[in-house]
Amino acid sequence: MRAVRLSEHGGPDVLQVEEIDRPEPAADELLLEVAAAGVNPVDTYFRDGSYPPVDVPFTPGVDFAGTVAETGSAVDGFDEGDRVYGTGIGNGSFQGAYAEYATVPTDRVVHLPDGVDATEAGAAGVVGVTAWRALIDHAGLEPAEHCLVHGGSGGVGHVAVQIGDAVSARVVTTAAEQYHDTLEERGADTVLDYGRDDLDEAVLEASDGGVDAILDHRLDDYLQFDADVAAQGCRVVGIGENSPDPAFTNDGAARSKDVSYQFMSMFNTPDLRVPLRGVAHLMEAGRLSIDVDRTYDLEEAAQAQRDVMDESFLGKLVVEP
Ligand SMILES: NC(=O)c1ccc[n+]([C@@H]2O[C@H](COP(=O)([O-])OP(=O)(O)OC[C@H]3O[C@@H](n4cnc5c(N)ncnc54)[C@H](OP(=O)(O)O)[C@@H]3O)[C@@H](O)[C@H]2O)c1
Repeated sequence: MRAVRLSEHGGPDVLQVEEIDRPEPAADELLLEVAAAGVNPVDTYFRDGSYPPVDVPFTPGVDFAGTVAETGSAVDGFDEGDRVYGTGIGNGSFQGAYAEYATVPTDRVVHLPDGVDATEAGAAGVVGVTAWRALIDHAGLEPAEHCLVHGGSGGVGHVAVQIGDAVSARVVTTAAEQYHDTLEERGADTVLDYGRDDLDEAVLEASDGGVDAILDHRLDDYLQFDADVAAQGCRVVGIGENSPDPAFTNDGAARSKDVSYQFMSMFNTPDLRVPLRGVAHLMEAGRLSIDVDRTYDLEEAAQAQRDVMDESFLGKLVVEP
């Protein structure tokens, strides 16, 4: 089979397509014919070695959707031909999904409902689990609450906007101007340009004086901002940053409102199948779609990983083997 591999850590050009043996599923694994593999920033961190270095040679791609080609000897509940999707391979312990076939442990995969597009599902894993864990599990977002999603055009952001809308929260999000209309169609009540000088005032105005929950993917930019636009008892969930030293200039703004901060990694999800099933349900119900901006062949994997870090787009990039 053809698979993207890296034999040393480095820039995108270390990714090469190679002809290798098709993997055999272990007892508790499925062999999948991969239909789509979402491209995530985390794929680039495993590639460049900034996350715990993975053994090489290595195939990237944490997200996947596809068809079961073979089941391991102890697998129950999956059959050859089943359509599935999931996440959590390609992370150091498992080879990833930028390949024609991949083996997947059954605790990281769920069935794909009829009618849900495999290309979208292949890009839904990391971003769906992350947005679900952040807003449902950690923030406990409730109907009618005001929820701020920073960066609503991002992979995580555009799913978070739709999950917020699906629970009937009032969603305020930020994005570059060209994405405002689409994000309103996806369920955002208010979309604000993240570059505006009066962003704090605009968020306060859109949320009747303060937001109840915040999904923050750039803590170094917004840690203090979050405290300033928080309502009493606001829950802030931090998923990322550009530099690892976010800081308050006035922590009293958070203390005086009993703001709680939860930092999270989706890799700590106790059972990935729970949010994966939730996301699949919303997709089947027409409440959640993944905007696929571009698709790439295996040969274009290096370009896909460049683009996910350097280009502006709404939604997701996908490798289709
Ligand atoms: N902790 C976890 O479990 C977890 C899980 C998934 C992702 N993450 C992290 O979360 C971050 C986002 O991931 P992603 O997959 O959604 O990435 P992504 O698809 O690249 O999205 C990033 C978004 O940030 C927007 N942005 C740029 N500058 C901004 C600013 N000043 N204010 C607000 N938004 C801004 C970008 O918009 P433009 O196109 O306009 O630049 C883009 O839409 C990454 O750092 C990733 O590593 C963490």
